[in-house]
Parts: sequence; C-alpha cells; structure tokens
Amino acid sequence: MQTLLLDSTQENINKAGEILRNGGLVGMPTETVYGLAADALNGKAVAKIFKAKGRPMDNPLIVHIAEFGDIEKFGLVAEIPQKAKILAEKFMPGPLTIIMKKSEIIPDEVSAGLETVAIRCPSHPVARALIKAANTPLAAPSANISGSPSPTTATHVMNDMNGKIEAIIDGGASEVGVESTVITLAGEVPCLLRPGGITLEQLRDTIGEVELNKAVLDKLDPNQKAASPGMKYKHYSPKARVILLKGTDEEYINYVNSKDDGKTAALCCDEDIAQLKVKTFSLGKRQDYAQQAHRLFDMLREVDEVGGIDTAYSRLPSCDGVGMALYNRLIRAAGYEVIDLEKI
Ligand code: TXA
Ligand code: MG
Repeated sequence: MQTLLLDSTQENINKAGEILRNGGLVGMPTETVYGLAADALNGKAVAKIFKAKGRPMDNPLIVHIAEFGDIEKFGLVAEIPQKAKILAEKFMPGPLTIIMKKSEIIPDEVSAGLETVAIRCPSHPVARALIKAANTPLAAPSANISGSPSPTTATHVMNDMNGKIEAIIDGGASEVGVESTVITLAGEVPCLLRPGGITLEQLRDTIGEVELNKAVLDKLDPNQKAASPGMKYKHYSPKARVILLKGTDEEYINYVNSKDDGKTAALCCDEDIAQLKVKTFSLGKRQDYAQQAHRLFDMLREVDEVGGIDTAYSRLPSCDGVGMALYNRLIRAAGYEVIDLEKI
C-alpha cells in the first residue's frame, strides 16, 4: 500500500474522511501527538490499527470527537457523569481524555473488553475538521510503532507507518508534544491514569478530589492489574539506553562528563550545554516544563537518528505541573533505571 502524505487543505481532509468512512486508516495531527485514526464504530477498521502498530489487543483506544455534544449524538456512553460536564466545560476541546462507562455501540476492539470507553475532543483544528468530514467518532492511539516514542510530526508518522496506512495529514508539529491527560470517572473517586498537558492541580481545582494512580510515578507491580492497560507496557523507548540521574545540577554535569566515551549523550536543558563535554540534546529551558514536554519525543527520536549513541542521560524531572507528564514518560523511556547521585 502506498501511504499518501497530504497537506491539510479542506479537499484533502474530505478525501481522508472518505478513506475513514470506507474503513481505512489515516495519520491525524492533534495538539498532543499524531494519532492513527479509524472509524471508532467499525470494529474491523479498528482492528487494523492494532496490526499496523503491533499493539497488544488488550490495550484500549481513545475515541476522538469533534465536540462534547458528539457523545450524545452518537450515543457513546451509558451516562455522562456531572463531573465530565464540568471538566468538559473547562478543558474541552483540549488535551484531556475522560473515561466513562461505555454504551453498547462501542466495539470490543476499542474498549479491549473493558466496560468503559475513553473520550477526547482534540483542539487541533485539522483533527476536528477530519472527525467532522468522516462524520463518525475516530478511535486513535498515538501513531507510532508500539513501544517507540510517540510521533509529533507527520515525518515521524511516515517513518513508522509508511506502507501500512492509507494516508497521513500534515498538520504541523504537535504543540503539547506529550499525550493527553487521562482521568477516569468510572470509579467512585476520579483518578488520574496518565498525566499530560492538563495537570493534576488543574483537575483538583476543577472537580475537587482526584486520586493519582500508583502506576503514574512507580513501576507497576507485575501481580497487580493495570487500571490503564497501556501503563504495563514498555514505552517511549529509543534504541539507545536512557538513564535518569537524580541529584543537583552540578552532580548531573560531572557525572555525565565522566562518562564521555564518544557514545554517550545528554538529554539536557539549554543552561547545561556549555558545560557538557558529550553530545547534547536539549529539551529547552530548565524551568520550562511545557517546552521540555513539547520537545521530548522529538529528542528521543533524534538520539537514534544521529546514530552511534549507546546511552543518553537525563535528569529525573520534578513532578509539579506539566513536570509530572515529563517524569511519567521519561521514567518509562528509561525502563525505570534511575541512578541516585547522592548515593554513589
Ligand atoms: O493525546 C492522546 O491521548 C493521543 C492522541 C492521538 O489523541 N492518543 C493516545 O492514545 O495517546 P494511546 O492509545 O497511545 O494511549 C491511550 C491510553 C493507553 O494507555 C490506554 O491503555 C488508555 O489510554 N485507555 C484507553 N481506554 C481506556 C479505558 N477504557 N480504560 C483505561 N485506560 C484506557
Ligand atoms: Mg501511545
């Protein structure tokens, strides 16, 4: 199959909408990361997503809608909780996914056998136009090969999906750069399953108590059932080994410089570059977590593209605000490998 790379003109969006209505797959730009979209109400089309990504079938997908009213229009959930309405009022469209009890219309391929469905209304105008053109909700995971860093440009999607999907719409670089915040309202107390551009603090300010699922910051106990199946899989990993360092700025720089063997890199901040002797991949300004999130996956891919790098050292980020999303992605990219510099 030849994969078409299309500019985001209305004509091309209509063409992609037709591909989706006919059961095909389209790479879709969103403000978080690029998605791999199929008609969410067509189980056969959705099954193709798992094949193209090499994704385990027990990992459910997010259903994307053009506006909150689509939940009722297409009858996607059993009931809309009051807190979903409050969250939607404030954060939709935007980088927030809400899990609710599903309706019968959701195919098993989307919910992976769970009783719930994840719903998100992206703010990217091309994503919304595409959902409208397809005239159906779109199931879409991130458009990467399962396990590798999520794509934040159309080129990333092409690199991973060329020949496996019908088309990709180029909507420019994704602004947020990490996937949406996922909150479940299906249990008694709302619970954050994946941190993203909308922070835990913002959620608590809006609906009160929100629990933090243990797997967000820690390795999941292999005997425990994952609240969000995606969290049990290895994720976001470049081919190079990523190791996180816990310590002061000075300790970080000294440690990385001591590892200078021509095959070492630093996933660092702008302020470190002048002091580091190894190859640097800067995520941005030290205090600017939004910028670091925006660049994270791009930098992880670049580490491999440059070639010859065995190990990339990054700081363990702090968990405030969008820092929690960075922490959650980096700790997975590192396979939970953290060196405490104060203890060596
Ligand atoms: O920003 C995003 O959310 C991107 C763009 C394309 O919208 N999508 C995305 O999808 O990141 P994906 O499939 O890569 O991640 C979805 C996560 C997975 O960890 C999955 O296990 C979880 O959400 N998830 C989906 N449905 C769920 C459900 N019903 N219950 C619990 N977790 C669910
Ligand atoms: Mg993903």
